[in-house]
Amino acid sequence: MRAYELRNTTGLDALALTERKDPVPGLGEVLIQMRAAALNYRDILVLNGLYPHMHLPLIPLSDGVGTVVAVGENVTRVKPGDRVAGVFDQNWLSGASSESPSALGGHVDGVLAERVVLSQDGVVHVPPHLTDEEAATLPCAAVTAWNALMVQGALKPGETVLVQGTGGVSLFALQFAHMAGARVIITSSSDEKLERARRLGADEVINYRRTSDWDQEVLRLTGGEGVDHIVDVGGPATLPRSLNAARVNGHISLIGVLSGTDAEISLFPMLVKQLRLKGIYVGSRSMFEQMNDAIALHQLKPVIDRVFPLEQAPEAFRYLEEEAHVGKVCVRF
Ligand SMILES: NC(=O)c1ccc[n+]([C@@H]2O[C@H](COP(=O)([O-])OP(=O)(O)OC[C@H]3O[C@@H](n4cnc5c(N)ncnc54)[C@H](OP(=O)(O)O)[C@@H]3O)[C@@H](O)[C@H]2O)c1
Repeated sequence: MRAYELRNTTGLDALALTERKDPVPGLGEVLIQMRAAALNYRDILVLNGLYPHMHLPLIPLSDGVGTVVAVGENVTRVKPGDRVAGVFDQNWLSGASSESPSALGGHVDGVLAERVVLSQDGVVHVPPHLTDEEAATLPCAAVTAWNALMVQGALKPGETVLVQGTGGVSLFALQFAHMAGARVIITSSSDEKLERARRLGADEVINYRRTSDWDQEVLRLTGGEGVDHIVDVGGPATLPRSLNAARVNGHISLIGVLSGTDAEISLFPMLVKQLRLKGIYVGSRSMFEQMNDAIALHQLKPVIDRVFPLEQAPEAFRYLEEEAHVGKVCVRF
């Protein structure tokens, strides 16, 4: 079987399609024939050797969907023929956090391989109405947005959510917030992308290139009050303005590091407005399953920008890095 590997070095040139022996499922394990995978910005960090506790050699990517083709002894959760996705952190099944994080395509081998063996505990069934590519987008980006807004944020109808950019996490946040009856304000570098966001349910849009003080615009759009929830994916470049744009007792999910990992911020808005700043690291299997129930009930369709064939997976990484996409970039096996 074929698998992409980062061998001893990192960077796009180090990503090679290799022949490997077919993996065999052991006790409690399942063999999955992969159908589609999806990329996250995080996979670019991995590619460049910037992901904490990653090891080499490594099969990249956390997100993918496939069909169970064989099961080892004592497997009861799934059977051959089932369509499943891997859980991002193979050890975080439920509860508030993982005791020993084991992230696919980072700490352990990921899913950019034709066949993959995972523990039966580390997979979930995916909503039947989704295509393979759509289902492949769920494990990291969607679960992160779900955890941020629905679990940590306990989002209520009528509340206002600020979403930054039109990448994978952000569009899931937009879709979940819209589905929950919240008012959504979204920012983007591009008017064209903002038009797409409007069609997906965004109520207000702000071009952050043209309106660099977008926090002031958010305040204007909310009658000076600010928003209830912010999905912050920018990090140092966005967090200070997020603190300004949040309302009293507002909730900020600290998710992304698109502009780096070190920030200098004024703490006053946090104190004065009694804000809740919550770091998010994807989510558990049980969050993934609850989210899938909601996605199936509402027949929600993830937004896919482009699908690359397996042989062109390096192109998919390059394309994601260019930030021309809206939603998700996938690989088809
Ligand atoms: N903590 C977690 O559990 C977790 C999970 C998933 C992702 N993440 C992080 O979340 C971030 C987004 O990940 P992703 O996979 O959704 O990325 P993505 O699909 O590559 O999205 C990137 C998009 O973000 C927007 N953007 C870039 N810089 C921005 C800035 N300074 N301010 C506002 N928007 C900006 C751009 O959209 P526009 O052109 O529309 O502006 C860009 O296309 C990454 O830092 C990733 O590492 C964290």
